[in-house]
Amino acid sequence: MNLKLKVWRQNGPEDKGYFMEYELKEISTDASFLEMLDVMNEQLVKIGEAAVEFDHDCREGICGACSLVINGNPHGPDGSTTTCQLHMRRFQDGDTVVIEPFRAKAFPVIKDLMVDRSAFDRIISAGGYVSTSTGSAQDANAIPIGKDKADRSFSAATCIGCGACVAVCMNASANLFVSAKLAHLSLLPQGEVEKHGRVLEMVRQMDKEGFGGCTNTGACAAACPKDISLESIAQMNRQFLIGSVLER
Ligand code: SF4
Ligand code: FES
Repeated sequence: MNLKLKVWRQNGPEDKGYFMEYELKEISTDASFLEMLDVMNEQLVKIGEAAVEFDHDCREGICGACSLVINGNPHGPDGSTTTCQLHMRRFQDGDTVVIEPFRAKAFPVIKDLMVDRSAFDRIISAGGYVSTSTGSAQDANAIPIGKDKADRSFSAATCIGCGACVAVCMNASANLFVSAKLAHLSLLPQGEVEKHGRVLEMVRQMDKEGFGGCTNTGACAAACPKDISLESIAQMNRQFLIGSVLER
């Protein structure tokens, strides 16, 4: 298939960005979206232009690095799909595809399509862990955990920290990401003991990083490639309220 790409180019965080148009010919419909970008970059390098920077790592939907807005949608048009899992057969011959970086104050552009999402790492460092000494490994069934809780915790743990929830949100809120990290720890006995301190620390760090507040539009859950549920935000809000009262 032949495509016209409109790609965001920006030299650095302080520079002004702009769209560049590139024509791509004979792209295989079996190629992944990132493979299509590889072909584009090979062609750019051949004509002496700088390759377009974009973030990626696993290319298997696991690491959360492939942060692109494609035709206005973080990770492209399909639900429950990361950019690296998107295939070119999803597009039509002759399509124009607009490719931009995730946009949020807390995710400054490093170069072109690559943004700095280390704000997420700092939120995790603020409390997204279990600090109790766990000793040596116990038998798997030493602490009985209800199936419902185990399932909810597992489902929250599937958050890959990609940031699509932030990129799609009109307020650039990180509530879905933070609430997923909180739910995954606090639903299990090992993480439960610290849950109130943890929620206060992580929410405070989230605010400090410049993410906006949540106004319950639900766009985050719709854009999330791992289908993290809005229920985790409700749970985070309840925990935050209790944590704030206990802190007094
Ligand atoms: S909640 Fe979903 S969209 Fe947000 S960072 Fe986690 S996986 Fe990505
Ligand atoms: S490159 Fe790892 S999730 Fe897409």
